[in-house]
Amino acid sequence: MKLLVALVYTIIVVAGKTVDPNIELPSSLKICRLEDPNRDECIKNSIQKFLPTLRDGIENIGIQSMDPFIYEKLSFNIQNNNLLMGKVDVKDVLNYGFSSGVIQSLESNITDEEMSINGKVFFPKMFVSGKYESNVAFNAFRFVSRGQYNVTMKDITAKWNIKSKLVDVNGEAHMKAHYFEIIPEVGSMKFSISGLFPDKSLNQVFSDFFTENWKIFYDEALPDIRNQWEPLVLDISNKIFSNFPFKKLLLKD
Ligand SMILES: *[C@@H]1O[C@H](CO)[C@@H](O)[C@H](O)[C@H]1NC(C)=O
Ligand SMILES: *[C@@H]1O[C@H](CO)[C@@H](O)[C@H](O)[C@H]1NC(C)=O
Repeated sequence: MKLLVALVYTIIVVAGKTVDPNIELPSSLKICRLEDPNRDECIKNSIQKFLPTLRDGIENIGIQSMDPFIYEKLSFNIQNNNLLMGKVDVKDVLNYGFSSGVIQSLESNITDEEMSINGKVFFPKMFVSGKYESNVAFNAFRFVSRGQYNVTMKDITAKWNIKSKLVDVNGEAHMKAHYFEIIPEVGSMKFSISGLFPDKSLNQVFSDFFTENWKIFYDEALPDIRNQWEPLVLDISNKIFSNFPFKKLLLKD
């Protein structure tokens, strides 16, 4: 489920911390032309080529390591489900697999005022590990537990859409994103959870139970994941856009 973190970055063309007019575009980034009849193919290839270079981050423009991508804390509310209700906090989470994303399709609409990009990205495999604390009612049983967990996800396909508008920043036109949506689909998930119960074999039974019923838990967690990640993605996109005037990211004839 932490794949959303990763998906976010598929739209990252460049990123930076401070607005420095002399900051150089990453050399791995292929710049496309607005009027190119094969513009979408060009942007798609550009992101595809750029993606693996994000693995260790790009220091001079302030991109942190993306593979693994690290985040400190997330909370999930599990509700509206007769089977399981409660709260799960996760921390020290590492998400692996982002840089092997394959951009499957991309479509852009760009006018003098705004830009909208739809894309589809495929990740063969993602591995997420972290610590958790949960306070959950399972049928009639309430249990509080903590431990480590990891999740292996396979065949992840995500559709995303970003919408942005051109705004003036110190006399230069920059894109500013105001909307980001990600709709991920996961082929399979395998859970490995320790610390649910002192008894190891019971623990295994529950890990297997989660794995067998992964879709229920995934569907439950998805709205929380999206609520937490979409604003973050938007923020990241805007950090990128604010560093480079749009005319540097997409050449106009
Ligand atoms: C581009 O515009 C067309 C026609 O209005 C629309 O059908 C399509 O969904 C748009 N694509 C994006 C990426 O916004
Ligand atoms: C996944 O988590 C389980 C339970 O905590 C642990 O035994 C296993 O070593 C972990 N696997 C990896 C690859 O970290």
